[in-house]
Amino acid sequence: MQKTKLGVNIDHVATVRNARGESYPNPLKAALIAEKSGADSITIHLREDRRHIIDNDLKLIRKKLKIPLNLEIAATNEMLKIALKNRPRFICIVPEKREELTTEGGLNLNYKKNFLKKLIYKLRKNKSRVSLFIEPKKKDLKLAKLLNAECVEIHTGKICFLVNNNKPFKKELRKIQDAVEYGNKIGLEVHAGHGLTFKSAKILSKIKGIKEFNIGHFLIGESIFIGLPNCIKKFKKIIKR
Ligand code: PXP
Repeated sequence: MQKTKLGVNIDHVATVRNARGESYPNPLKAALIAEKSGADSITIHLREDRRHIIDNDLKLIRKKLKIPLNLEIAATNEMLKIALKNRPRFICIVPEKREELTTEGGLNLNYKKNFLKKLIYKLRKNKSRVSLFIEPKKKDLKLAKLLNAECVEIHTGKICFLVNNNKPFKKELRKIQDAVEYGNKIGLEVHAGHGLTFKSAKILSKIKGIKEFNIGHFLIGESIFIGLPNCIKKFKKIIKR
């Protein structure tokens, strides 16, 4: 059986760098250490406002990385152009609001549906694997399939919030479980991510059918205490089924 994959999101290495306007800590260095430590892919989100990852990070990481680069982008013409030019192995289309602290929810697939369809077509034709970041809802999975995405990534922010705050999470877990099952049934590769910690990753790793977890904020934060290689190894062990 194929093992569950870990995508390491290094956006917040760039957040720390940008806080002081220096050239360190260097996201490329983090990407290469993550690669060496067993990450299966590296995720970066090039936001419209460039608040963390900047175009030059994308260029350098794209050039040096051997494992797949997963580029998160909003569904805009600017990002389509950048994605087509850089041709990362993986692309995840995410919603983006300028004022949000982080990606707060999944995509509204009905909004700009025709544009999304065109985007997916062009990116796939350019040989990037395309994933859509969605809520664990059957109607969104159905629509993702109709739009011809190969993968979906289920937004796990809600369950992570419940777990972090010691609130009941079984109902949300069941919702994710059902979404994963349905996604696999209709031929989508299902991933999960957002807000994951050691504890919530362990809970979600029990769900059969999640092929990939994408983890960033907690992982980079925890690395301050235990180091990036150790943190990646710990997450790999947790998500191993
Ligand atoms: N997956 C997607 C699609 C995301 O947008 C993000 C956040 O950028 C993550 C995973 C990682 O979330 P976190 O940084 O909370 O681990």
